[in-house]
Amino acid sequence: MRRRAAAAVGFDTDFYNKSQPLRDLAYTSVEQVSSKITIGMKRGHIILIVLVLAVGIAIAVGASILHNGLSARATPTALEAFFAQHAHRLSIPSAARNMHNPMQASAENLKAASDHFADHCSSCHANDGSGDTMYGKGLYPKPPDLRQSETQNLSDGELFWIIENGVRFTGMPAFGGGRGSEDDSWKLVLFIRHLPQLRDEERLDMEKMNPKGPDDRDEEKDEDDFLGGAPAQQKAPAEHHH
Ligand code: HEC
Repeated sequence: MRRRAAAAVGFDTDFYNKSQPLRDLAYTSVEQVSSKITIGMKRGHIILIVLVLAVGIAIAVGASILHNGLSARATPTALEAFFAQHAHRLSIPSAARNMHNPMQASAENLKAASDHFADHCSSCHANDGSGDTMYGKGLYPKPPDLRQSETQNLSDGELFWIIENGVRFTGMPAFGGGRGSEDDSWKLVLFIRHLPQLRDEERLDMEKMNPKGPDDRDEEKDEDDFLGGAPAQQKAPAEHHH
């Protein structure tokens, strides 16, 4: 019946019966071609999935960075903080990470470092390392609380490297390069280690070393005049917003 139908449409039915090798060849090549097609489709699927994921991640990161416009007053989203932190930790060379602090935690070195910190770092980081200052709160990313494990878990070498080189795309300046800067930076590392145990007297002592603006100097002069018995100047108290 099939033979007849095949003959009717002009098939050479003998071909099916007699040319077994040729038929095998025809089948295998069809199989090969079809398996190539499925491999091709699989690869296409993987590329598509990767593309969709990449676009999705890009949109999520973009949205996460652009929330609240580009204002520095926002708090970074968890996603953004994660990328920022890991990017800068990864950027610290491993040789720097393993460096050993050559400075001893002597009272003298700690005092020198706390004076230095009060003068150069406290405007952003606060004397107690909390970051609770006008500049600290206005920066983005904000300085982290240096007393917390996130900072304390960094190695001495990592802290040193950050102080010397700063952190790109953030308010953290590089303090390295000057004469004696390395010794000073290592002493600052000692002081950062000391921050979690900072006593109130030490913190108050640092206030003398904090940079002063004209308002503070006026206030101090008034106080001195008052304590010295001179009549306090009659002037409206300067309005402080911070
Ligand atoms: C103008 C503001 C500013 C000043 C001044 C400043 N910092 Fe920073 N600092 C920052 C900011 C902002 C960060 C957070 C950077 C980031 O997100 O990675 C930071 C980060 C750090 C870190 C890394 C903490 C961590 O957990 O990643 C250390 C250590 C540090 N500062 C030490 C210092 C020392 C020591 C000084 C003074 C010599 C100083 N900083 C002065 C703004 C400042």
